[in-house]
Amino acid sequence: MKRTHRATELDIDNIGEIITLNGWIDGRRDHGGLIFIDLRDRSGLIQIVFSPEVNEEAFHLAEQVRSEYVVAVKGKVCRRPQETENPNLKTGKIEIYVEKMEVFSAARTPPFYIEDGIEVDETLRLKYRYLDLRRPEMRDNLMLRHRVIKIMRDFLDSNGFLEIETPILTKSTPEGARDYLVPSRVHPGQFFALPQSPQIFKQLLMVAGMERYFQIARCFRDEDLRADRQPEFTQLDMEMSFVDEEDIFTLIEQLMQEIFAGATSQQVSTPFPRLSYDEAMEKYGSDHPDLRFGLEIKDISEIVKDAEFKVFYSAVQSGGVVRVLNAKTCGSFTRREIDELGDLAVEHGARGMAWIVVGENELKSPITKFFSEEKMQQILTTVGAEPGDLLLFAADSADVAARVLGNLRLELGNRLGFIDENKLNFVWVVDFPLVEYDAEEKRYVAVHHPFTSPRVEDFDLLDKHPDEVKARAYDLVLNGTEIGGGSIRIHRRDWQEKMFTLLGLGPEEVEEKFGFMLEAFQYGTPPHGGIAFGIDRLLMIMSGRHSIRDVIAFPKTQSASCLMTEAPSGVSTRQLRELALKIRNK
Ligand code: AMO
Ligand code: AMP
Repeated sequence: MKRTHRATELDIDNIGEIITLNGWIDGRRDHGGLIFIDLRDRSGLIQIVFSPEVNEEAFHLAEQVRSEYVVAVKGKVCRRPQETENPNLKTGKIEIYVEKMEVFSAARTPPFYIEDGIEVDETLRLKYRYLDLRRPEMRDNLMLRHRVIKIMRDFLDSNGFLEIETPILTKSTPEGARDYLVPSRVHPGQFFALPQSPQIFKQLLMVAGMERYFQIARCFRDEDLRADRQPEFTQLDMEMSFVDEEDIFTLIEQLMQEIFAGATSQQVSTPFPRLSYDEAMEKYGSDHPDLRFGLEIKDISEIVKDAEFKVFYSAVQSGGVVRVLNAKTCGSFTRREIDELGDLAVEHGARGMAWIVVGENELKSPITKFFSEEKMQQILTTVGAEPGDLLLFAADSADVAARVLGNLRLELGNRLGFIDENKLNFVWVVDFPLVEYDAEEKRYVAVHHPFTSPRVEDFDLLDKHPDEVKARAYDLVLNGTEIGGGSIRIHRRDWQEKMFTLLGLGPEEVEEKFGFMLEAFQYGTPPHGGIAFGIDRLLMIMSGRHSIRDVIAFPKTQSASCLMTEAPSGVSTRQLRELALKIRNK
């Protein structure tokens, strides 16, 4: 009873043929004299029919089988009577009259319906992931994933890239998260780190003369999880020698065109616009702005720095800013709705949220009294206020003001339906700062990673004003999600050493952690650069999902565990002893 066809390969051309199908029972309808079953395989559904007149034995078996039984059926392809055709099914014009059926295996009643759009707690879906993946939408996500990765491989192969694997048991690569550690049995007390990315290895492959490398690379990061973060995730990781930013942008824009054309038949127009980090933060309050809608933020620090309102002038005087989001059409919000926005602002770190409702002839606001008519007119003009608008203010440090208004902008964009879900909006964010000051650690940290090259023209600033130095780094943002990031690297030992010093690493620590890399740079290193894409994030957007868990076969929960296998789990004392480890009581 081996299959001759997949379900959806059959069509009216096959009418009259005797065929065999293998698959799962999707549902059964008993019409007394006739039993109809939807048979499902990976390709889709087909209706099979049992009649005692065609075969009594098969008919009786069909009375007993239930959903999710795995069966083989042999029968004749027939045209359905016209009034029973199903236009929603690819095979809706035909049905199979079964002459023989074999049950490969029975099935218990699944804990949820195997169908799209179910409202089931995700924990149950994750515990029974193999059932969840039987649902067509989840199968489609995995098929999309396969297709996208195949397009990536083919594209890079035809552009001269070599696919090279790098170690999973390795030494820490700094990408800003905590490492997952693996104890060594052979070297008691010593640990491997799982790679946060293949960054150092791919650079060493450039030293090795491979010139163009890529890898579909699993990366491991122990960080706080969100809907678009997993503790292990997959990157399309790339590195190239003898290139600059323009070469990388052009290549990636072509890659994106091919991916979308090949996998979802969507047109991607190139070149992608570029936005500086500073502009992104000021206008959209985010370094990964969603540009599918407007609602730009405006800076009014200059206008209000000497106004009477203390909250505003003291913010500017202490080095901060005052910024405004013009929430178009929100002038009709109730006091309660405005207060809720205020609460949201506070959640994101604001100390308050002043507001103005712009009416036909008047302004409603707790703060208008602090401004002369002239100043108020300046503010209204700057933000392009029209009757019916609601102006939201943040007076704070530039960072906090950006975060607060950036989040309000997103919230309102979503809530007001300003976001066109069918749009693809790519943007390169460039000119990132090289480093930022970490007040907790009391030192500078790399904004991208420590191997990123500063802009050559900023090199002289490194010693005195490191926070003014821009990096040769770039992120690719799609619809408000950072899908990729990379940089042109430092390829000289002395510059790399200088960078480590700037980041507060002493010579011994540098030698211990990165000595091998610095040594490699002394044996002839090509200038090089690269980028890595979050494949899961890209697929999340392509499939219109809101969580990367939906495009990963066996993802982890928000608390970094696997509900199906119940990993992580305890180990035996013997294993611990072999590893020379002892568990401390919490
Ligand atoms: P970066 O850390 O920016 O760069 O990572 C590249 C891309 O990987 C995705 N990503 C994630 N996806 C899911 N879960 C996570 N926890 C997660 N963290 C990151 C994002 C991100 O843009 N070595 C450098 C690349 C380079 O410089 O070439 C790197 O890893 O989409
Ligand atoms: P107050 O004078 O503190 O009552 O504040 C007057 C208005 O300014 C209120 O609507 C506050 O929510 C708002 N406000 C207070 N602090 C800030 C701030 N840092 N940024 C923007 N608005 C603020």
